[in-house]
Amino acid sequence: MTPHRLRVFCFFIACFLAVQSLPSRASGAPQESPPPQKSSSSLAPGQASGVYADNDVCKTCHEEVWTKHFFNTPHSALLKGNQHGCQGCHGPAQAHVDGGGDITKIIRFETLSPAQTAAICTKCHQASPETQNFAKSEHLANGVSCTSCHSPHKSADVNFLLVKSQTELCYGCHTAQRAEFARPYRHRVDVGLIQCSDCHNPHGTQTGHQVRAAAGQFAVCTKCHTDTMGPFVFEHAPVKTDEGCMSCHTPHGSTNPRLLQVNNVNFLCLRCHTPNTNGAASGVPSFHNQATKYQACTLCHTQIHGSNFDPVFFR
Ligand code: HEC
Ligand code: HEC
Ligand code: HEC
Ligand code: HEC
Ligand code: HEC
Ligand code: HEC
Ligand code: HEC
Ligand code: HEC
Ligand code: HEC
Ligand code: HEC
Repeated sequence: MTPHRLRVFCFFIACFLAVQSLPSRASGAPQESPPPQKSSSSLAPGQASGVYADNDVCKTCHEEVWTKHFFNTPHSALLKGNQHGCQGCHGPAQAHVDGGGDITKIIRFETLSPAQTAAICTKCHQASPETQNFAKSEHLANGVSCTSCHSPHKSADVNFLLVKSQTELCYGCHTAQRAEFARPYRHRVDVGLIQCSDCHNPHGTQTGHQVRAAAGQFAVCTKCHTDTMGPFVFEHAPVKTDEGCMSCHTPHGSTNPRLLQVNNVNFLCLRCHTPNTNGAASGVPSFHNQATKYQACTLCHTQIHGSNFDPVFFR
């Protein structure tokens, strides 16, 4: 294990232990109260370990939260059927009510760790393929919580209850990427033509860099750039192997046209097509002297992502 992986691994162990020790917080009854019943000791926070109050009783003392920050949000669906309304997140709250609003007897999110918060939210949101990898995400591993990005009560962006519009939210922590998207050639995230979440899943993925599909599997790019997808009779091998699109392009922004990794196309091609190659790529034919004529490779090899008609991608 690399030191980084080891740290991540240790973190998960720590999270696991933290989750194991949750019930005392979940019941909202820390030090003073008697130790939790044995039967409830494996409960995640927010699971029933106390007595639920009537859903409507919260309104009597928290009128503003109820009407302004809950009733008009998607979570008001929790008032339907046999669900527990506010207590779906804040846990069984009869003791809180009986105590005249005793804040030690209610789940308060600001006192929870990111893993504890996630355990509450994913009680209901685990099933979605969108959120199911959060436990192993880079975000959770680095202390980013559901509530770093979402606010059930005070979201500035009604879409997905985000604390800020998505682009500003992501840039807020990822300043290096803000700079990349300001380069002359870029995916136009800044004007909303495309979003971070078109390519990334902020809740984590099975693949590296939280990319929706591994770059090598190229699906993340070809869902929009369908013409590069093929299959072609004559494939250009690197498009579908190794780094996929990223063998030649950068995803965010570049100082080079077409988001290429290097400024001159011939340097890009000659990285692999060395004159006397031992690698997988063929050497360039000897008549390709690097006089001006042969520098602009894609003037002749136009169908660089693959062709159905020509093995050297002229058409
Ligand atoms: C009898 C009045 C009363 C009722 C009923 C009541 N609360 Fe409270 N609640 C309070 C008071 C008082 C506080 C402390 C407020 C403060 O310190 O700002 C409080 C605090 C809270 C907090 C913590 C706020 C914070 O600042 O972190 C939460 C969460 C909460 N209540 C949720 C609920 C829920 C959910 C219900 C319904 C089951 C409910 N309350 C019912 C009076 C009540
Ligand atoms: C989907 C989960 C969820 C539901 C449902 C929910 N809350 Fe909250 N509540 C939170 C979170 C998370 C916070 C922490 C602040 C934030 O991120 O918005 C919070 C904060 C609070 C606070 C602290 C003060 C504040 O506004 O930040 C109070 C009081 C509160 N909730 C009361 C309620 C009441 C009353 C209801 C029902 C009307 C309710 N909550 C329903 C998740 C929830
Ligand atoms: C008791 C179940 C429950 C819990 C716990 C819960 N949610 Fe939800 N959540 C729902 C329901 C039900 C909806 C509305 C149904 C829907 O739109 O899919 C919803 C909707 C949402 C949405 C909006 C989805 C959309 O498509 O616009 C977000 C974001 C969300 N929840 C985040 C959270 C976060 C963050 C937490 C933890 C603080 C949380 N939820 C806790 C049940 C829950
Ligand atoms: C780093 C920021 C970030 C974190 C952390 C985060 N989310 Fe999200 N979430 C988003 C964004 C952005 C979207 C909108 C995605 C899109 O546009 O497709 C979203 C969408 C959602 C949706 C709606 C997606 C769907 O269609 O199913 C739910 C539900 C949700 N988040 C819940 C959660 C829960 C629960 C957690 C914690 C376990 C969490 N989120 C953590 C940023 C985040
Ligand atoms: C067009 C698709 C696409 C968009 C849009 C996109 N990314 Fe990426 N991003 C990628 C790919 C692919 C990688 C992996 C790069 C690699 O494998 O070298 C990546 C890598 C990253 C990384 C890892 C560090 C790095 O730069 O390699 C971060 C952080 C990141 N993206 C954040 C963001 C943020 C924040 C946004 C929105 C402002 C965003 N990305 C928008 C495709 C995209
Ligand atoms: C609260 C701060 C915060 C917010 C908000 C945030 N991130 Fe992150 N993100 C981090 C941290 C910390 C890491 C782990 C360290 C790193 O790789 O930069 C990370 C990691 C990532 C990675 C993986 C990088 C890698 O090298 O594997 C991607 C991709 C990413 N974030 C995208 C996003 C996107 C997209 C959004 C907006 C929906 C977002 N982040 C919002 C803090 C944040
Ligand atoms: C959500 C759709 C979408 C996804 C996903 C996407 N792109 Fe794009 N891409 C676009 C759009 C739209 C443009 C045109 C941008 C403009 O005109 O500003 C573009 C432009 C480009 C260009 C520059 C084209 C030119 O004419 O200069 C390249 C290269 C590119 N994308 C590569 C990629 C790669 C590599 C990926 C995967 C990491 C990817 N794209 C993922 C939508 C997408
Ligand atoms: C072997 C290197 C290489 C690979 C791999 C590659 N590209 Fe390209 N791509 C190029 C070059 C070179 C250009 C510029 C062509 C030109 O100048 O006419 C280009 C141009 C583009 C353009 C601009 C429009 C066009 O078709 O000319 C898009 C969009 C694009 N690539 C997307 C992708 C996607 C998506 C993938 C992965 C499926 C990918 N590329 C893989 C080399 C590559
Ligand atoms: C990441 C390495 C890589 C890059 C960069 C690259 N290629 Fe290739 N290319 C290959 C491989 C591997 C093959 C398959 C060779 C084989 O099957 O014999 C190939 C095949 C070809 C072929 C088909 C003829 C043949 O020998 O099979 C042509 C023409 C070609 N490349 C031109 C280019 C041009 C022009 C560029 C620059 C725009 C480029 N390549 C960039 C790796 C690369
Ligand atoms: C003026 C047009 C032209 C330009 C510009 C050009 N080529 Fe070619 N290329 C050709 C011709 C013609 C062939 C031979 C086609 C055949 O054998 O049918 C060829 C063949 C190839 C082959 C296949 C070799 C093999 O053994 O099958 C590769 C690889 C290649 N070129 C790479 C490049 C690279 C890299 C560049 C830029 C540095 C480039 N070409 C620029 C015309 C060009």
